[in-house]
Amino acid sequence: MKAHEASTSATSRAAARGVGRVIPHAPKSSSAFHDRRSRTGALGITRPTSSAAERTAELARVRAKAKRCQACPLYKLGTQTVFGEGPVDARLLLIGEQPGDKEDLAGHPFIGPAGHLLDRALAEAGIDRTEVYVTNAVKHFKWKPAGKRRLHQKPNSREILACRIWLEQELDLVRPELLVALGATAAQALMGRAFRVTTSRGQVLKDSQGRPVLATVHPSSVLRAPPDQREEQYQALVADLKKIPHGKPKPRKG
Ligand code: URA
Repeated sequence: MKAHEASTSATSRAAARGVGRVIPHAPKSSSAFHDRRSRTGALGITRPTSSAAERTAELARVRAKAKRCQACPLYKLGTQTVFGEGPVDARLLLIGEQPGDKEDLAGHPFIGPAGHLLDRALAEAGIDRTEVYVTNAVKHFKWKPAGKRRLHQKPNSREILACRIWLEQELDLVRPELLVALGATAAQALMGRAFRVTTSRGQVLKDSQGRPVLATVHPSSVLRAPPDQREEQYQALVADLKKIPHGKPKPRKG
């Protein structure tokens, strides 16, 4: 059995134990956020080392392994694995659904139209994207042909679960103070299938691992909105991002 297969089955067992169930519980204050020095890996997969340099090196190793991932059939569709990017000491970690057409070709998350909208919304909320770690629940582009275009397809639960191993390692190594789930796929991957972004958006809740999570809409949903609703939906996304405790994340040491 290959290493990633072993890890994936460990993830599946963890999922069977209920990882991802909703435990709605708003922390009373930001001091309820994790003590990032002492938190152990959510699934016991990664043993985070304490220095940023070591965690950066480990993240590079995980990224290299993810490049070769064949844990679900999506590797045959996508051009490449699109792994997360950003500082290992980021206080905020944003999770989207999966890379889009542009991201698949370039190999970087959120660099297409949805990424541009996200950058603008983050800036308006006082958050510098360069200080944020950005990734996706699924790291290959799922699409079907539509003439000359590649039409986005929603990943299914098996594909999301197969990719969970990479997300969990990113979460363990970055150890952010807050996860921001962009859209239903990311939110449900963390909070369980029953989670509804429409009813719980903009609140800091906790996932089954006790990690603080704020869910909001996916920037693509703003782009897809009818033109007369787009500005309102964009402003609602900005308003959610402004609820992030302490607003602007600051770099931290160690
Ligand atoms: N949509 C996502 O969810 N992620 C990306 O990286 C790009 C578009």
